[in-house]
Amino acid sequence: MTLQIQSLEQYQKIYKESVEHPEKFWAAQAETFTWRKPWSKVMETNLSEPSIKWFVDGKLNITENCLDRHIPTKGEQTAILWEPNDPNEKEIRLSYRELLAEVCKVSNALKQKGIKKGDRVVFYMPMVPELAIGVLACARIGAVHSVVFAGFSAQALADRVDDAQAKMIICSDYNQRGAKVIPVKQIVDDAMDISCNSVESVLVHRNTGGEVNWSDEIDQWWHELVEGQEEICTPEPMDSEDLLFILYTSGSTGKPKGVVHTCGGYMVYSCYSFKNVFQYQEGDIYWCTADIGWITGHSYIVYGPLLAGATTMIFEGVPTYPDAGRFWQICAKHKVNQFYTAPTAIRALMACGDQHTQNHDLSDLKVLGSVGEPINEEAWHWYNEKIGKNQCPIVDTWWQTETGGIMITPLPGITDTKPCYASYPLPGIQPCLMDAEGNEILENDKEGLLCIKYPWPSMIRTTYGDHDRCKQVYFSAFPGKYFTGDGARRDSEGRLRIIGRVDDVINVSGHRIGTAEVENAINEHPSVIESAVVGYPHDIKGQGIFAYIIAEQGTWNDDSFQKGVKQTVSKVIGPIAKPDMILIVPGLPKTRSGKIMRRILRKIAANELDNMGDTSTLLNPNVVDEIIKLAYG
Ligand code: PRX
Repeated sequence: MTLQIQSLEQYQKIYKESVEHPEKFWAAQAETFTWRKPWSKVMETNLSEPSIKWFVDGKLNITENCLDRHIPTKGEQTAILWEPNDPNEKEIRLSYRELLAEVCKVSNALKQKGIKKGDRVVFYMPMVPELAIGVLACARIGAVHSVVFAGFSAQALADRVDDAQAKMIICSDYNQRGAKVIPVKQIVDDAMDISCNSVESVLVHRNTGGEVNWSDEIDQWWHELVEGQEEICTPEPMDSEDLLFILYTSGSTGKPKGVVHTCGGYMVYSCYSFKNVFQYQEGDIYWCTADIGWITGHSYIVYGPLLAGATTMIFEGVPTYPDAGRFWQICAKHKVNQFYTAPTAIRALMACGDQHTQNHDLSDLKVLGSVGEPINEEAWHWYNEKIGKNQCPIVDTWWQTETGGIMITPLPGITDTKPCYASYPLPGIQPCLMDAEGNEILENDKEGLLCIKYPWPSMIRTTYGDHDRCKQVYFSAFPGKYFTGDGARRDSEGRLRIIGRVDDVINVSGHRIGTAEVENAINEHPSVIESAVVGYPHDIKGQGIFAYIIAEQGTWNDDSFQKGVKQTVSKVIGPIAKPDMILIVPGLPKTRSGKIMRRILRKIAANELDNMGDTSTLLNPNVVDEIIKLAYG
């Protein structure tokens, strides 16, 4: 059984052991799984390359551990509980036995379509059980899944498909989110028109049953292919370091990068972190509201809970449909015990009023989780009082796509909680704060750049197709350490508070968006000459997107121009990257070498005009006053 820490003393003891004898600690975690061949060495890592190997030479299949392993003891227990968008529709329950049978059928179907070990399969689907089933089917046959959030545009989808050189896209006909119906298959068709030359077939899951365009050469219905397949499929033995999945995420420069996770280390870490952070007990109903298109959905809807033999809920809809009580109605209906969501959802629901939290029995809740962005104090207290009734510890979990699993978090009922603090590292995780000169900050009550100074099993292995980029972004700033891109503060008692990104990445509603990506998208508008994008504080989204644009004459302060820019961004990236504020400016503050001074633009966007810092080195200092005048009159 995977370790589940029970007390503060045990946490402290195990943490110490994990630092003193990391290989022993991780070997003990890994031993609880089914391995086809044992590993010869726990780890072999060189962070300067980086070359990262865990459970070297071990052979396993993660789905054997998610599914087959549980059949003797919990074959009839619900593995996936699916709650539809429409509260009047019935939920679906899949027991571990049924889920295994479905996964095997889809695995055989994929094989029939020529998908082999190592091939990449892109998913572009709503939150339906078939998404989890499809992902697991890929893992079972050794294909590499890459789930693209179904809110991205055709262009963004095509970029990811091309980068991964995917052989197949799996999608649905339509997506039902709240009152909206999104033409998913049409977006895939558009992506195929743009590029996607590596794609040989598109597998379409019938979700709403609406009309779709069809190409007999490429398209095939999921149900037609899967029906009649055998319910048995031998899991492919995978090397610990074979690719499990690629997940695209934004960085400060260039196009999104494909973060690579591998089979062995990811399996060990996602299960270990799930069991400890949520203190999952037999029979509990666990619900994470994230989308499977993000890392949170991978690790804490699909893999972590299933590896731990939990009942994991998948919700198709949105928090505010049919009203802002939907989350709490679902918690009451299914007697949810652990609930995991993002601060942006909490803030949005808080703004809708407390009446929506009333008349729902939330007494089964034991643990509340938060993820993706800093949770502000007001939202923390609201969550604690109105949802947790002061009875449920809040785990403010800090981690990243690149870390694969939760790294820093309180442990519910074990370590203390403090609003805004992700607090303490899990055993096995060694965070540190660095100063700009590359020295580790050892004192408490200090702020610094957050790094992890020792490898852990689920860390990023590479960025797909561009290892050098991985090295540059994460392993070069502080040699021998993984650099997170976040700033953090350690309080006088050693708790960590995440302050936010120190690079040009903004966190909008918990979604990571690169400023360069948004600028490139804006610049595709024919009347845009130049643009600069920064984040600014936003009451609901955490950060909003503020775009400064130099436009061709004639488009100044023109409503339709602003609309056009937003449409362009939606088309190039997706609606999540649309600027919240657009300001047409005569110029942008630049250094003598031509670099845009974002520091100044961030201050203006945040309306922090008192302390603009030194502007004398600017090529065009006057432009700062002009921009302030345009923004604030
Ligand atoms: O800035 C941190 C923020 O989200 C970034 C990682 O984003 P992504 O890879 O999309 O993964 C999100 C879900 C794990 C981090 O660099 N972040 C994540 N969790 C927290 C957070 N910021 C503050 N507090 C958190 N709990």
